[in-house]
Amino acid sequence: MNYYIGIDVGTSGTKAVLFDIYGNIVSSHTIEYNIISPKIGYAEENPIDWKNAVIGVLKELSSSVNPNDIKGIGLTGQMHGLVMLDEFDNVLDNAIIWCDNRCLSEAKEIESFGIDRIREITGNNPMQAFTLAKLLWVRNNKKDIYDKISKIMLPKDYIRYILTGAFMTEYSDASGMQMMDLKGECWSKELLDYFNISEDILPKLAESDEITGYIKDDISKLTGLSTNTFVVGGAGDQAAGALGSGIISEGDVSISLGSSGVVFSALDNFVIKDNPLQYFHHALHHKYHNMAVTNGCGNSLKWYRNLLFENLSYKELTKNINDVKPGCDGLVFLPYVYGERTPHNNPNATGLFIGLNPNTTKDMMTRSVIEGISYSIKDCFELIDTKINNVYIFGGGAINDDWCNIISSMLGYKLLKINVSESPALGVAMLAMIAGGEYKDIETAVKNIIKVTKTYIPNMDDNKIYNEYFEIYKNLYIQNENIYKLVKEKRL
Ligand code: XUL
Repeated sequence: MNYYIGIDVGTSGTKAVLFDIYGNIVSSHTIEYNIISPKIGYAEENPIDWKNAVIGVLKELSSSVNPNDIKGIGLTGQMHGLVMLDEFDNVLDNAIIWCDNRCLSEAKEIESFGIDRIREITGNNPMQAFTLAKLLWVRNNKKDIYDKISKIMLPKDYIRYILTGAFMTEYSDASGMQMMDLKGECWSKELLDYFNISEDILPKLAESDEITGYIKDDISKLTGLSTNTFVVGGAGDQAAGALGSGIISEGDVSISLGSSGVVFSALDNFVIKDNPLQYFHHALHHKYHNMAVTNGCGNSLKWYRNLLFENLSYKELTKNINDVKPGCDGLVFLPYVYGERTPHNNPNATGLFIGLNPNTTKDMMTRSVIEGISYSIKDCFELIDTKINNVYIFGGGAINDDWCNIISSMLGYKLLKINVSESPALGVAMLAMIAGGEYKDIETAVKNIIKVTKTYIPNMDDNKIYNEYFEIYKNLYIQNENIYKLVKEKRL
C-alpha cells in the first residue's frame, strides 16, 4: 500500500498526517508553538520552531509504516507570513505572520500604486495582512535586515526549502503575497518594479499538484523518510482545507473554524469585484476562489479560555452553552481581539463585551464569545454573491456540534459535515496522490475519499432572534469605530 503525508504548518502548531490512498488517517502527530507578540498588535513566529516541529512530526510518522511506502508529501500552512533568509540561508528575523497588525501605513503606501490597478493585478485591495505590506514594513523599519535579504518565502515554502532545497511556491499561497498577477499566473513585473523589489528574492511558481522536489539526504537521516519521497506544490491553508472538504466547483461554499474563521467560495472562472472579499487562485489549474477572513475565530476563543479558564479543555469550557438562551440575554461580544480583516479591514478594532450585569454567568460569557465569533462568520457569509448550493463546515471549532448548530441557525442554512477531520492536510495529501498517480484528477479523488456524515438543520425560531442581535452586533462596531481609533492613539 502507498501512503501520503499532509503537513500543515499552522499558527498554533505543526501537524502532519499520514493517509492511505483512501484518505484514512494512519497516524497523525502535532507539535505546538506560540505566537510571539513583542508589542500590542505584533504577531510573529520563529521559522526555526516550524522547522523543528516538522522534523519532529515527520520522525513520528515515518516510523509508523515502511518509509519506502511513503510516496509523497503535500505542504500547507498559515498564509501571508514573511520568512526572510540571507545569502547563507540563515533566518534573518522572526516571521511576521498573517494576524500581525503593524503594517497599516505600509498598506497606505501600497495605495500609491493605484487601488484599482492593484486589485486588477492581484485580486485584492492593499491589505496590511498580506506579505507585500510586511516586506515594506521591514524596509521602512529594519533596513539593516532588509538589506541582507536574499530570499523571502511563505511559511510552508520555507519548510519545502528545508525538506527539498527547492525555492518554490504555488499559485494559491502566492496570491496572498500581493505581488502576483492573478490572471497571468506570474509575479507582476509592474508591481515589483514600482516597489523596487527584485524578482530574484521570490520563489519560482508551480502548480499545486506539481512535484517540486525530493527529500534531501540530511532530512532523510533526521526523519527516517526516504530520499525517493517527493514534495508537491501544495496550497495555502484555506485552499487546502477547501480541497480536503471537496470544495472544488462554483456553488460549493465552506466555513472553516480555525485560528481564523473563513468563509470560502470556489469560482470556476477568473473574476474580481470591488467588495471586501479577497480573491485568490485555487489549488486547481486555472481555477479561483474568493473568501472572507475574520481574524478572531479560534484565536479569540483561545484568548478567552487562556485568560479566564487556563486549565479547561474547549470541551469542558463549552459544555453548558446550550443552557444559555440564544442571544445570551443581551450579552454581545465583538471578537476582534486580533483586529479584524473582513469586512472591516481594521487592525485597530479590539474585542468588546457589552451587556455585562450582575446576573452574567461564566456560561453566558462563554456562549457570547461563541456567538460573537459566529456573528462575524455571518458578517463574512453575507458577502458571498455567487450561487450557494452546499455549505460545508470544518476546522477545529466544527468538532463542537453545539457551535455548528448555532452557526446553522444564525445563517439559516443547512450545514454539511464530512468524514474528514483534517481537511487542510488531506487536501494537500490528495494533491500528492494525484502526482503519485493514485487518482487521475481532483474530482476523482474527492468522489472516492470525501463523504457527508452529518447535517445541521437551522432552527428558524433561533434564526429570528439571532437576526435581531446581528443588527446590534453590526451597530456595535459602527458606533465604536471612532473610539477604537482614539484608544489606539492613546496606546502609542
Ligand atoms: C487566510 C489567512 C488565514 C491564515 C491562518 O487569508 O490569513 O487563514 O492562513 O490560518
